[in-house]
Amino acid sequence: MSILTLKDICKDYIQGKEPVRVLKNINLTVEEGEYLAIMGPSGSGKTTLMNIIGCLDVATSGSYVLADQDLKDLSDDALAEIRNKYLGFVFQGFHLLPKMDAMDNVALPLLYAGVGLKERRARAEEALKAVGLEERIHFMPDQLSGGQCQRVAIARAMVGKPKLLLADEPTGALDTKAGSQIMDIFRALSREGMTIIMITHDPAIAACADKTYHILDGELRTEMEAATDEET
Ligand SMILES: Nc1ncnc2c1ncn2[C@@H]1O[C@H](COP(=O)(O)OP(=O)(O)OP(=O)(O)O)[C@@H](O)[C@H]1O
Ligand SMILES: [Mg+2]
Repeated sequence: MSILTLKDICKDYIQGKEPVRVLKNINLTVEEGEYLAIMGPSGSGKTTLMNIIGCLDVATSGSYVLADQDLKDLSDDALAEIRNKYLGFVFQGFHLLPKMDAMDNVALPLLYAGVGLKERRARAEEALKAVGLEERIHFMPDQLSGGQCQRVAIARAMVGKPKLLLADEPTGALDTKAGSQIMDIFRALSREGMTIIMITHDPAIAACADKTYHILDGELRTEMEAATDEET
């Protein structure tokens, strides 16, 4: 069963006075449990696409169906609800709150979801254990390494049990070893049935996914199409 379908998605940004087409007729179906990587040069439209998939931005045209719902014309509130219910986000820069310890950072989405304190803490602890940080539960972000911060961010993304994990350059700020720990966690999540879409410019990181797409000048291509393009 597919978790999302994009049909002819286009995104225009006004640059200067002219609209510039940043995404061009993107068609993509993602099956439940798939683990995808999206690669492409800087400025090719990766984050723009991720923001649309993540309901953080809307397309200029085209249709987007997520978890059997057509997202056309939904209000900001309705989109926020879909985000909370179905999506988890991991970014290159971690985005942890500096004045909260690891546990409170992870528990934050549950607070917004109205979960009680005791359950929040229990679930945050479980999520931190799952990323190997059971010994760092009460550490503040500035007492954690980059890789540990990213693991806290992953625990925070997972704590609400989303169906789809979206990661924009999750290893971009990390060294090879910390990056490969993050890839081990993604692999484990994928094995448990999580659907993952990960943006990366690093071929070694993309190789950890089951399938890779490429964006070039706003057009999405499969690995095979991208290879054929290079030959010609
Ligand atoms: N809010 C905006 N207004 C105007 N143009 C934008 C806006 N956001 C992005 N763009 C343009 O859209 C294009 C794609 O940007 P995007 O951030 O999706 O690239 P990217 O593939 O994620 O690049 P990177 O690898 O550097 O993160 C760029 O040319 C950028 O200048
Ligand atoms: Mg980007």
